[in-house]
Amino acid sequence: MRLNIQRGHVALATAICGNLAAVKGEPLVFKAGDKAIIPGWHLQSATRVKDDMSEISIPGLNTTHWYRVESRGTVMAGLIENGIYNDTHLFFSDNIGNIGEKEIFRSPWLYREEFTMKPLDGQYFSLITHGMTSKADIYVNGERIASKEEQQGSFGGHTYNLTSQVQPGDNCILIRVYPANYDRDFAQSFEDWNPHPPDNGTGVWRHVELSQTGTVSMSPFRVNTDFTGFPKLDDNEQVNVTLKTNLVNRAPRPVRVTLNGTIEPPNHDKPTRFIRDYHLMPGEKRTASIRVGVENPQIWWPASWGPQSLYSVHATIFYDDSGETSDIAHSQQFGIRSASSYVNAHNDTAFIVNGYPFEVMGAGYGPDIFLRYDENRIRSIFRYMLDMGLNTIRLEGKQEHPEFYDLADQMGMMVLAGWECCTKWEAWKHNEDGHGYLWDDSDYTVARDSMLHETEMMQPHPSVLGFLVGSDSWPNDRATDVFLKALKEMDWRNPIIASASKRGYPEDLGPSGMKMNGPYDWVPPNYWYGDDEGAAFGFGSELGAGVGTPVMESLKRFMADDDLKTLWTEPEEGLYHMSSKSSAFYTRSIYNKGLFGRYGKPTSLEDYVLKCQMADYEATRAQFEAYSARQNATRPATGLVYWMLNSAWPNLHWQLFDYYLNPMGSYFGTKVGSRMEHVAYDYENEDIWLINHSIEGKDDRLVSVDLIDMNGKKISSSRAKSHTSPTSSKQLQSVDGLDKIKDLAFLRLILRDGKGKHVISRNVYWLSPKPDVLDWSNSTWYSTPVTEYADYTKMDSLKSADVKAKVTNTKSKAENGWTSRNIELENRSPFPAVFVHLNAVDSQGNVIAPIYWSDNYITLWPHEKISLSVQFEGDLTWSIKISGRNVKEQILKGK
Ligand SMILES: *[C@@H]1O[C@H](CO)[C@@H](O)[C@H](O)[C@H]1NC(C)=O
Ligand SMILES: *[C@@H]1O[C@H](CO)[C@@H](O)[C@H](O)[C@H]1NC(C)=O
Ligand SMILES: *[C@@H]1O[C@H](CO)[C@@H](O)[C@H](O)[C@H]1NC(C)=O
Ligand SMILES: *[C@@H]1O[C@H](CO)[C@@H](O)[C@H](O)[C@H]1NC(C)=O
Ligand SMILES: *[C@@H]1O[C@H](CO)[C@@H](O)[C@H](O)[C@H]1NC(C)=O
Ligand SMILES: *[C@@H]1O[C@H](CO)[C@@H](O)[C@H](O)[C@H]1NC(C)=O
Ligand SMILES: *[C@@H]1O[C@H](CO)[C@@H](O)[C@H](O)[C@H]1NC(C)=O
Ligand SMILES: *[C@@H]1O[C@H](CO)[C@@H](O)[C@H](O)[C@H]1NC(C)=O
Ligand SMILES: *[C@@H]1O[C@H](CO)[C@@H](O)[C@H](O)[C@H]1NC(C)=O
Repeated sequence: MRLNIQRGHVALATAICGNLAAVKGEPLVFKAGDKAIIPGWHLQSATRVKDDMSEISIPGLNTTHWYRVESRGTVMAGLIENGIYNDTHLFFSDNIGNIGEKEIFRSPWLYREEFTMKPLDGQYFSLITHGMTSKADIYVNGERIASKEEQQGSFGGHTYNLTSQVQPGDNCILIRVYPANYDRDFAQSFEDWNPHPPDNGTGVWRHVELSQTGTVSMSPFRVNTDFTGFPKLDDNEQVNVTLKTNLVNRAPRPVRVTLNGTIEPPNHDKPTRFIRDYHLMPGEKRTASIRVGVENPQIWWPASWGPQSLYSVHATIFYDDSGETSDIAHSQQFGIRSASSYVNAHNDTAFIVNGYPFEVMGAGYGPDIFLRYDENRIRSIFRYMLDMGLNTIRLEGKQEHPEFYDLADQMGMMVLAGWECCTKWEAWKHNEDGHGYLWDDSDYTVARDSMLHETEMMQPHPSVLGFLVGSDSWPNDRATDVFLKALKEMDWRNPIIASASKRGYPEDLGPSGMKMNGPYDWVPPNYWYGDDEGAAFGFGSELGAGVGTPVMESLKRFMADDDLKTLWTEPEEGLYHMSSKSSAFYTRSIYNKGLFGRYGKPTSLEDYVLKCQMADYEATRAQFEAYSARQNATRPATGLVYWMLNSAWPNLHWQLFDYYLNPMGSYFGTKVGSRMEHVAYDYENEDIWLINHSIEGKDDRLVSVDLIDMNGKKISSSRAKSHTSPTSSKQLQSVDGLDKIKDLAFLRLILRDGKGKHVISRNVYWLSPKPDVLDWSNSTWYSTPVTEYADYTKMDSLKSADVKAKVTNTKSKAENGWTSRNIELENRSPFPAVFVHLNAVDSQGNVIAPIYWSDNYITLWPHEKISLSVQFEGDLTWSIKISGRNVKEQILKGK
């Protein structure tokens, strides 16, 4: 049989054999305490092989015609890996919707691998799964060891007893996965974010492991500490760490064992050892709880507040009589920190980390559309988040692999995990907005197993800030009970929140304290300073002005010429790379209405994209500034999750950097708006805010406020002295001269230290004589209409500015393989140089990404000089394209 793909292309089922296969002859595991990942798979559609699973799960099958795939991956990821599909092609225009053969994804797929074993007497073997989409039958050596009724859900992890199946020599594991339907199965849908992947994410997307133990086995450690946060901890004080592990005696006789463990502190300090004896009856299961005092505890902090001190724990179980190993708990990292939340007098949720009010400055995560996991990509994403001043990533039902949480711990990124909206996950009777098939008895079991598994994995990680057991809706009482029992069983110590919205809540959890009132589509900057809907008060669990337009170079990678023409010439038209077709966000019509109304009708694609960058920058800056400004207001803004951080595929909106990791206007708006210490303009009250997100910075500060017209002529200028205090913001003076703006004005705010020496924050706005006017009472769940627009059309009449640029440290060597440069910009004109963009390209003209600019899209004052820095990985020949709203493009050599 053949698979017909990509318009007339007939792809043969070729298999790439070899390098991923386990080394034949060497046992996969061979001593107690060993654990190994099934190293790769042969993948094939079940329609192309015999239907007898028992027969084909016996070692020795000829799998020449099967695909060879990595140790984990969806069916689509595997087919891409084998060159059957090409993601560059799929991502272009609407190609993904036009793939020829769709029926193949409606049938099961098989993952098969052979491996060698050398079992010894007195040894026990387990198969450990971590979730398969959507469900699976598992066979080993001709015998079915799990059915699709047991192995269900993307997050359903299980341990199966393989002791009687494992045989000396060749062994075989065969997994038959069933196609996912988001409404019927516990899978990972993208709801309205993007088109569904053709396979709905079906496959063995997580690792499958094999373990060998002696008579007594132990589970991974769960770790809790009695540290409740500052100011309680004095230096030298001790923190008690409680370690819990489940011990199981698998033998029909009593056993005496010793558990011998070590806590390794950060920085290779002296380890703390612990040792305990246990006497287990035949078949006994017991939770061992071990308290260990840790001296001179080193506290783990979110990145912006301090170091990421990480401890690790590992332990071995010995038989008392022989001294032989029975099992090993391999090294598990943990941190000493505290995290809690409460619902305040306004019914808004607020978080506390290590005793300090922790305002969530977050964004929503999009995994790859084919659920491919690339550690370097995640590292770059976290780096981007930290660079923007964000402190939290929200996973809406897209729980990741264990390495993701390790990395979050190491980089100081908080994680708000939780289940997804609308699909099977929220198919409860009271949820009228959902579309999943209602849960039956067996679904509660899948939900419990998923909760237990994800909780066990996340439990020790200091980066995990909380778990939202519902998203748009809240779990019914039975589901709540199932979730809470599972969380308790796994010694969950972090906040548990009913949902991401205020639509209702189960009694056992109380109000969620999180609002989900939009916006998801465009609103003007002054929206955020209002007191309705998504404006800056309380906790916004997913909201933003719907911006995130990629830069031109990225657009051309995934949009056909026709798509690009539609983009700027047909403002009401649907676009394949917006949200999915059935969604309210399939068009850019609200966005474009605002854009054309405020900046003027675009005259070219280039003009459109530039205007988008300006609008996007304004939008994200105002959102993060307003939430920062009101962090300790009478009704405090306790946090926000920008919707969204990034996209699952090349997309036109809801992102702060694009799929190719190119940052854009929305990125730099966020970066300015989220600065640790900052000075911001309040579009509604027309005054200035002094913002401080740090936990210790308190000092005198100087603020200068300058307003000029579009010709560079001064309208007003003032200075103010103030004092900044930790985790709070305060209102300073109002801006003089706003009533004198005729056509277009620029406002520059500079925050300096008390002596006026160091610039802490520099921030420039463009202002119109008339404000945007919002029609609050006509708000929808996704936007608030605007009845009058601000007017920035005079941007077209700005005189062309002369900006000189030079690289000041051309000779500095790449350190650790990174290039680092300073660029000095000087505006030689007597009027402003507006929205100056620096874009680094390699010798082929490709944009360099990821890349870290200290600032970008900057507006220079007449005759102002500014120094910027840039870093990226690699040491290559490159140049910088510099252009702006009124600055002609010039090219500067990077090296
Ligand atoms: C496996 O099947 C292929 C194709 O039918 C054949 O060429 C090959 O010789 C077979 N291998 C073995 C070991 O039988
Ligand atoms: C994938 O497709 C793109 C264009 O559609 C092409 O340039 C590229 O070479 C293809 N990649 C592979 C691995 O075939
Ligand atoms: C994917 O799930 C949707 C429901 O969310 C369903 O309509 C569609 O048929 C599924 N696709 C496949 C290939 O099963
Ligand atoms: C740790 O436990 C010991 C023994 O129960 C207790 O005396 C001590 O106060 C605890 N330490 C802290 C910081 O609570
Ligand atoms: C697994 O199977 C073996 C062999 O049938 C049995 O001795 C053992 O008790 C079972 N249970 C566990 C938890 O290993
Ligand atoms: C724990 O085991 C290690 C390694 O076998 C050994 O060096 C150490 O002495 C043991 N610790 C105790 C307290 O028995
Ligand atoms: C908070 O919610 C409770 C019910 O959950 C309600 O009785 C109370 O009035 C609310 N408070 C405010 C300030 O809205
Ligand atoms: C917020 O904190 C600042 C101190 O930085 C204080 O001046 C201001 O009054 C506080 N705001 C409110 C509403 O209490
Ligand atoms: C809501 O919009 C409609 C027109 O779309 C308008 O007639 C009505 O006055 C608006 N409502 C308010 C309260 O402004």
